[in-house]
Amino acid sequence: MNPPAIAIDGPAASGKSTVAKLIAKELGYTFINTGAMYRAVTWYTLQQGVNPTDANAVKALLPNIPLSFGKEGAMSTVLCEGRVLGEELTAPETNEYVSTIAAIPEVRALLVAKQREYNNAEPVVMEGRDIGTVVFPNTPFKYFVTASEEVRAARRAAQGLTDSIAERDRKDSARACAPLTQAADATLVDTSDLSIDQVVAKVVADIRAKLEANA
Ligand code: DC
Repeated sequence: MNPPAIAIDGPAASGKSTVAKLIAKELGYTFINTGAMYRAVTWYTLQQGVNPTDANAVKALLPNIPLSFGKEGAMSTVLCEGRVLGEELTAPETNEYVSTIAAIPEVRALLVAKQREYNNAEPVVMEGRDIGTVVFPNTPFKYFVTASEEVRAARRAAQGLTDSIAERDRKDSARACAPLTQAADATLVDTSDLSIDQVVAKVVADIRAKLEANA
């Protein structure tokens, strides 16, 4: 049996990244940011001059894609030819096309396999859109983090990010393969009116209770 996997899903700017990182810290688990993996494939596609809306051309890149997925301390990293990627992952062009790339089933299959590997040897807190539904469908630790669209737009603006989150969520929810959706057995966590600390405390208490019940 694999070590525990905590699945944190939700729309963009719901607060799930912040919450997931703090939950991982509190539990001493590794934090895995799966959005960065989709962003890396998007960045690389654009870098190669390949049209991200041409799914066949993107698929042709995949067998030899020079990306790898590592860890620095207790956080996941994405590398291209050994170099850790950073700012390029949130560049405007990457933001614009990441939902298009994330809708390609072959891209998802490749990345889901890499995501599962992280949990072979250690417990993880994994953040994304399909972690509870596809990556770890059998985990008892599933949380779907949301906030009102207003709150999410304000949070994005406060971070200086201007990409259209509503449009990205619409595309992520509408795609045929592994759409953004709450797993039937996930706990809904609305962060609109709670502080980060309150959300983290609530989720960590729930995880600890389940860990004890399963021990
Ligand atoms: O979490 P993020 O905003 O960095 O994610 C970027 C995009 O990647 C998001 O628009 C949808 C996609 N994504 C996905 O389809 N599945 C995941 N598990 C994580 C992200």
